[in-house]
Amino acid sequence: QELQMNLEQIEKGGYDHFMMKEIYEQPSVIKDTYRGRLHAHEGLIQMAGIEDNLEKFLNADRILIVACGTSWHAGLVAEYIFEEFARIPVEVEYASEFRYRNPIISSKDIVIAISQSGETADTMAAIKLAKEHGAFVFGVCNVVGSSISRESHAGAYTHAGPEIGVASTKAFTTQITVLTMIALRLAKAKGTLSNSVFHAYLEELEIIPEKVKEALETNQVAQEIAAVFKDASNCLYLGRGYNFPVALEGALKLKEISYIHAEGYPAAEMKHGPIALIDEHMPVVVIAPKQGHYDKIVSNIQEIKSRSGKIIAVVTKGDTQVRELADYVIEIPETSDALSPLITTIPLQLLSYHIAVMRGCNVDQPRNLAKSVTVE
Ligand code: G6P
Repeated sequence: QELQMNLEQIEKGGYDHFMMKEIYEQPSVIKDTYRGRLHAHEGLIQMAGIEDNLEKFLNADRILIVACGTSWHAGLVAEYIFEEFARIPVEVEYASEFRYRNPIISSKDIVIAISQSGETADTMAAIKLAKEHGAFVFGVCNVVGSSISRESHAGAYTHAGPEIGVASTKAFTTQITVLTMIALRLAKAKGTLSNSVFHAYLEELEIIPEKVKEALETNQVAQEIAAVFKDASNCLYLGRGYNFPVALEGALKLKEISYIHAEGYPAAEMKHGPIALIDEHMPVVVIAPKQGHYDKIVSNIQEIKSRSGKIIAVVTKGDTQVRELADYVIEIPETSDALSPLITTIPLQLLSYHIAVMRGCNVDQPRNLAKSVTVE
């Protein structure tokens, strides 16, 4: 028994929970993900699965992304990145909906299946269906040799290492890293980004692990904010553009492990519904980095404030405008708009973690949830 306990403590690497260990591993696993693939100085991205199938990607009419849960959120981030960088139309679908709605798929489509475990039943069924219709299937999985990685025509692993915590953290950021590299590679081949912009992204991606490390320094303030809001019964997450999917992911993390009802929304959609819920008891987490739609987000924050909502804002270091309006701010390092999800996600993971711990929840194994859902 005692030996068992010690083993588990060793596995957790000095952290109280696997989730925390995995959150803190992100700077190093993102590096593992791009190692040997991203060559910023040479201005190159090399991924075997893409190089071998480059023509297929360049001739594709569109890319369909299928996934579930957190992986679906990574797919949404990828949609914005692929369309902006490589100008290829992208659709993102819940695998469970896709497989049952007689979707229109052809041999001119590329289907990207994103799955940490590579074992999710709905995602597996979705790619089988896509293959039957002649589509080319590319897998983005974490677990090497998993069913989805074997069923795909080609793929790229995320190399995040084993993820034990049921709530996905490092799998999400490494999925975004892989998908960003694919988008950059295609942009290079298609000439859809100028040389200088392309190089700037490569250099920025290379230093992203340092910025993730810096973002982890928000742990203390996340813990303080968690202490204030741990008894909330609802929470709203808002973001725009690249950070809209991050709002969804932030809300998912909170509900998964703390059992607080949380919803993520595109900030501008707030006035079509959620604004009715805002009063002094409603914490609203707003992702408001300097890059992106900053002025629009500021006016969304004003709308929340005038209804007495409690504002927790994730802002770029040195921000003054949002600081004046928000009740609490979490400062993160500056990066480009497109890469910001890799940074803005970090404090939201930490916030959920601390709230769940303070509520006495089983962080690594939340009730009713499974790490991989191999049944429908
Ligand atoms: C389960 C897990 C989630 C995960 C989802 C998809 O719901 O609890 O963390 O995002 O499945 O899993 P996959 O392995 O396909 O990424």
